[in-house]
Amino acid sequence: MMHTIAQLWEKQCSRTIVNYAKNIVIYIADDSKVICSILDANLRENGFTTIVFNTLEELEIKIKVTKPDILLIDFYFQHTTSLELIKKYAETIPIICMSTTENANDLNRIFINQIVDFIPKPVNNDILRLKIYNFIRRIENLRDFETIQVFIDSLLYTIEIRDVYTRGHSERVSNIAEHIAQHLKLDKQKIEIIRQGALLHDIGKIGVRDSVLLKTGGLTAPEFSEIKNHSVYGYNICLNLKTFQPYLGIIRSHHEKLDGSGYPDGLKRNDLPIEVQIVSVADVFDALTSKRVYRDALSFDTAFDILYEEYKKGFWDIEIINALKEINEREKI
Ligand SMILES: [Fe+2]
Repeated sequence: MMHTIAQLWEKQCSRTIVNYAKNIVIYIADDSKVICSILDANLRENGFTTIVFNTLEELEIKIKVTKPDILLIDFYFQHTTSLELIKKYAETIPIICMSTTENANDLNRIFINQIVDFIPKPVNNDILRLKIYNFIRRIENLRDFETIQVFIDSLLYTIEIRDVYTRGHSERVSNIAEHIAQHLKLDKQKIEIIRQGALLHDIGKIGVRDSVLLKTGGLTAPEFSEIKNHSVYGYNICLNLKTFQPYLGIIRSHHEKLDGSGYPDGLKRNDLPIEVQIVSVADVFDALTSKRVYRDALSFDTAFDILYEEYKKGFWDIEIINALKEINEREKI
């Protein structure tokens, strides 16, 4: 039997949601007890956990103690509306507001920037269920994002517990690079790519053998080239992870230099986006000002002397170094 797209869509949604619907708590607020009991029966039949409120006061007392996963609320209550309550909680609770069709248009304008959905009264149970599924899918996307953040943290932790001398390095580089990007007034999206990409830039060190990564004496030429592989290892680790696509450039190219003398690809200025250049300078600055097995941490002044010398050799962009210097003069980062 052929299914329509709508049937397939609902089948897929139901299958995913049926497994944990009972964990989804929906508060239903309407001053009509009859409407409440109809909605309540419908949502319970679909497996959701519900709590019913007939006044805004009761609802707000409960919200202050425990927030629901979704709030289904009528717009008109006796002598008042739920407008203020919706405004107050729209940023923190997914809300579906029940109202007449004409009011839905006005409300849409009021809540244009907030996550408030509307359903016309009398409520159609199928539409309500699909609206709830949509909210749950949005919440699930956020959960996926959180899971990825936790995964990134675990990877970083794995590297840092192996290598005490670079402990905290990724976080410091991320912090420095973010400050530079803000100082240079890059757009928000680029700043976020820089912040996250810098956290991940050395992720490929996970693939370098302990005997090389943790060696305290000088490295042989083959050992040094193994260390250098970390940028390609990192790139390969993240290559097929959709969420990591924006960071691939930073991970692969953070050891490149503007004159083409870096690695792994010998890229030059025009092939190196500003995001990569900023992380590279932040990386070098943190390496110079941190203690290493073979030397103490250098002072900020010495580190800047070295960066300016390397600018003269053609390694780095002067504006990025100047930005970092100005930030340091203003506030120690
Ligand atoms: Fe690196």
